[in-house]
Amino acid sequence: MSKSPIRVTVTGAAGQIGYSLLFRIASGEMLGKDQPVILQLLDLPQAQKAVNGVIMELEDCAFPLLAGVIATDDPAVAFKDTQVALLVGARPRGPGMERKDLLTENAKIFTVQGAAIGQYADPDVKVLVVGNPCNTNAYIAKETAKKFGRVKEKNFTAMLRLDHNRALSQLAAKSGRTVDSLKNLVVWGNHSPTMYADYRFVTSNGDSVKTLINDETWNRETFLPKVGKRGAAIIEARGLSSAASAANAAIDHVRDWVLGSKGEWVTMGIPSDGSYGIPEGIIFGVAVTTENGEYKRVEGIEVDEFSRERINFTLNELEEERAGVADLLK
Ligand code: NAD
Ligand code: LMR
Repeated sequence: MSKSPIRVTVTGAAGQIGYSLLFRIASGEMLGKDQPVILQLLDLPQAQKAVNGVIMELEDCAFPLLAGVIATDDPAVAFKDTQVALLVGARPRGPGMERKDLLTENAKIFTVQGAAIGQYADPDVKVLVVGNPCNTNAYIAKETAKKFGRVKEKNFTAMLRLDHNRALSQLAAKSGRTVDSLKNLVVWGNHSPTMYADYRFVTSNGDSVKTLINDETWNRETFLPKVGKRGAAIIEARGLSSAASAANAAIDHVRDWVLGSKGEWVTMGIPSDGSYGIPEGIIFGVAVTTENGEYKRVEGIEVDEFSRERINFTLNELEEERAGVADLLK
């Protein structure tokens, strides 16, 4: 018997990430090759014509799993009964900007959408915030939705998976091992240059990758800055921010959350429960494993002096961002 469709909301559906994302969701790459989906597409009124063009293309793919598409500029309609919500729609940064420079401009989007999710979404909705600055935007959406007391706070997450994938790729190149052989990576903190890509525990076929690479100068002077500033390097090269790799990371994040990571660590930005000295509620990148549609934080990772410094550095930035939006959440 075929499964009932899952309602998936994608905001910013007319944007560049949307264009890389929707076709993969509709083809079953995110929720499974036997899982029908109904797409609920939100974008601004002036983008509706472009959204309709994307819908024509979705129709022209004749995806067997696409059980319906709704296009709207009304968050109440877009989030109605939604079970998976990908909050992509927001302004991207341009050259010379940091992601937090977008905070004032994009923050309001996430109070409006948090309120709509809080009122209209399925109570078990899984939310992934991609729009930048994604950790603090996820925090805003969570705090706003919470006022309605319906949806699960722990299900508001931010995308650190692109950073995780970027780090995996750099480690594979440096160690000469394949990407899929690498286990136990974590990217701590904020999706910003302060993030801490931590490969102290990464193994490849049982070998320590830290030992294989054996180059702390490379870690501090090449690897960490390269992963942290990769988004800016792409903007510099393309004149536009990353889109296909961002969409790919969003698919990875939700797929693993829903279908399970089979015991592997993956990085998700999730509301802190106070562990690792991260104040409760802040959306922070940590290592998780996922099973049966739930994520579980990896506990007991040793935090050495360098790691503590790096974790505190990225935490301070998130605390500053949180203070910057406190007025919006009153
Ligand atoms: P884009 O400008 O191509 O598209 C953004 C879309 O969002 C547009 O169609 C716009 O009309 C729409 N939009 C704006 N405000 C909206 C609102 N209130 N409701 C619904 N839709 C709205 O941008 P993009 O390249 O697709 O990037 C989108 C966001 O994702 C940016 O903030 C970017 O910085 C971020 N991003 C995050 C990551 C990450 O790893 N977390 C990676 C890449 C990009
Ligand atoms: C990225 O990391 O590529 C995105 O967050 C876009 C950006 O502004 O860097």
